[in-house]
Amino acid sequence: MKAVQVQKPHQLEMIEVDMPELKKPSDVLVKVKRVGICGSDMHIYHGTNPLATLPRVVGHEVAGEVMAVGTDVERLKVGDHVVVEPIRCCGSCYACRKGRPNVCASLSVFGVHEEGGMREWFVLPEKQLHPVDPEIPWEEIVMVEPYTIGAQAVSRGEVEAGDTVLIQGAGPIGICVLKLAKLQGASVMITDLNEERLEFARLNGADVTVRAAKEDVQQRVRDWTEGEGANVVIDAVCLPQTFELSIEVVSEAGRVVVLGFDGRASSIPQLPITKKEVTISGSRLQTFQFPKIIDLLNQGKLRHDGLVTHSFSFEQVKEAFAYVEEHPDLVRKAILVFD
Ligand SMILES: NC(=O)c1ccc[n+]([C@@H]2O[C@H](COP(=O)([O-])OP(=O)(O)OC[C@H]3O[C@@H](n4cnc5c(N)ncnc54)[C@H](O)[C@@H]3O)[C@@H](O)[C@H]2O)c1
Ligand SMILES: [Zn+2]
Ligand SMILES: [Zn+2]
Repeated sequence: MKAVQVQKPHQLEMIEVDMPELKKPSDVLVKVKRVGICGSDMHIYHGTNPLATLPRVVGHEVAGEVMAVGTDVERLKVGDHVVVEPIRCCGSCYACRKGRPNVCASLSVFGVHEEGGMREWFVLPEKQLHPVDPEIPWEEIVMVEPYTIGAQAVSRGEVEAGDTVLIQGAGPIGICVLKLAKLQGASVMITDLNEERLEFARLNGADVTVRAAKEDVQQRVRDWTEGEGANVVIDAVCLPQTFELSIEVVSEAGRVVVLGFDGRASSIPQLPITKKEVTISGSRLQTFQFPKIIDLLNQGKLRHDGLVTHSFSFEQVKEAFAYVEEHPDLVRKAILVFD
């Protein structure tokens, strides 16, 4: 069978690998149907993801069909449509004991630390697979993992109905955060540099949009919240300066959620944090968000609404990566189709 392997930075090849087999009684064999191409896949491709080792079969936004199950598998059966929960944890470290396996000390992420989903078949333990209503189109199902990132950020920010939420950045992650914040009943202001991305955010429920760099975000937040500040700020731009702005514009008793992997320092004084008693939370991957997102999807409350802009056949993976790279203005989410 075929697999997409990043062999070294900037070198992506279609390779021939052995068909995986059920080895443990809890194993499930899955035929891949759709895989989303994520910013972090592009980082692995460029050799700029410090967590990934090469060579690597990438892909962590994965939907497929169950083709065989081990003898202990109870929840899943042949024919089920499933999404991958791309997290494997030790179960015994402090984070795992605290119910936060997403930051397990020996975390292994499917498609980052271990071989991922850009291959025709894979085997995973049952607990890393979640069934979805088979009536739902594959293009919708493949978005579950990015939505869980949005759900985690909203949960880490303790977003409640009626809160004012500022989301910085209307890229795919900002839009996923927006969808989940709106479902939570918040009022949302979103910023971006790009007017088209803001237009798309309005279509996805943003109450107020702000063109960062052209407008004074701080002033717009003050006016919008009548001087209170945003109750929650979720930074989906992830630059040193957007983290700094988050602390400035958050309200008293507010929460700031950071999602970035940027190693550069921000310059943040203690005073506003203490004075406003701000909670600053990191948000990485997700914990226990898959069932919630799948319920919303099955109930028809979550749809990509144009977030998926491009589909490429699996064989065209090189073209797909090149296209995503060269047209950031046109691509929101590109997916690979395996048929
Ligand atoms: N923590 C996690 O689990 C997790 C998961 C996925 C992605 N991420 C991170 O989330 C971030 C966003 O991901 P994405 O795929 O949406 O990226 P993206 O690059 O597509 O989107 C970023 C958006 O921010 C806008 N932007 C740039 N500077 C801005 C500014 N000063 N103010 C407002 N908007 C600005 C850009 O125009 C762009 O639309 C990345 O840094 C990524 O690494 C984190
Ligand atoms: Zn992703
Ligand atoms: Zn652990």
